[in-house]
Amino acid sequence: MTRHKSFGSDNHAGVHPAVLRAITEANPGDAVAYGADEWTGRATAGLREVFGAEDAFLVLNGSGANVLGLSLLLRRHEAVICAESAHIHTDESGAPERLIGTKLLPVPSADGKITPELIAEKLSGRGDDHRSQPGVVAITQSTELGTCYTLAELRKIADFCRASDLRLYLDGARLANAAATLDCSLAELAECADALSFGATKNGAMGAEALLVMRSALAADVPYLRKQQTQLTSKMRFVAAQFSALLQDDLWRANAVHANAMARRLAEGAQAVDGVEIVYPVQANAVFARLRPRHITALERDWTFHVWDEGENVVRWMTAFDTTESDVDAFLADIRSATG
Ligand SMILES: Cc1ncc(COP(=O)(O)O)c(C=O)c1O
Repeated sequence: MTRHKSFGSDNHAGVHPAVLRAITEANPGDAVAYGADEWTGRATAGLREVFGAEDAFLVLNGSGANVLGLSLLLRRHEAVICAESAHIHTDESGAPERLIGTKLLPVPSADGKITPELIAEKLSGRGDDHRSQPGVVAITQSTELGTCYTLAELRKIADFCRASDLRLYLDGARLANAAATLDCSLAELAECADALSFGATKNGAMGAEALLVMRSALAADVPYLRKQQTQLTSKMRFVAAQFSALLQDDLWRANAVHANAMARRLAEGAQAVDGVEIVYPVQANAVFARLRPRHITALERDWTFHVWDEGENVVRWMTAFDTTESDVDAFLADIRSATG
């Protein structure tokens, strides 16, 4: 256990007490396995409703949700356009390439977001059977760099994809943080996509993610693909109970609003410190900062965080549902003394 609250990742946080309670309450007695239980029925109905989705499928982790979602949208010869910083490209050990046999076509992006113009650059080889044929665009909301697409930006991408015969997948591992920042519903965020993931793990769950399917024609294959991809867990009621706890009274939103507020507090405090530069707009629960290497080393003695780009001296500080103001203030005090 670290001495201080970790700013390494929202995955470092524990489980929200309401989620733990829901797991405990689901425990007594037996339940039919593989999702044919009442908890899964309730959670997936709740998810369908809040997303306005055709169907909802529970899975165990975000990489699994991404592979499942992409596999659903791709034809066998098709490729995926994504940002260079996309988790599917940088942090899934090549899972989409290995497990689906697709090719990722990454585009450079200054802030983790991609645009119709950037997508268009990858379409020049269409119709040439020597070239990868893009079939899907994958975006992340909020992005891996802690930024958010606005609803207008999402609509623009969705319109472009529709007009260009491209399907749109949205990695929503931190969708809650985006909904909190934009003060919008999950349905408004989901509207643009053909399929998307919804992350609960980084929002206070123990381990639970969902795949939302927005078009009915796509849903029929998901149960089989999920099983083939080993994401159909037998004791599904415990995954489902976690979602129900987060959906109850919009706990997911309260958790995200809090995590975002802690990131803003950290960014505002840190940017007032000489020698600290905030490198991306703070629009979710991540703060990216540039510091001198010796200051990074000094801070690493007592604090846990991610050195994001060693060459550029950029670190990532993440907050979670359980980060407190005093955690942030203690970290800021040490940032001040490390750089002073
Ligand atoms: C944007 C994004 N997508 C997907 C994932 C994958 O989640 P998991 O580690 O549960 O596979 C992560 C995890 O950090 C992530 O940040």
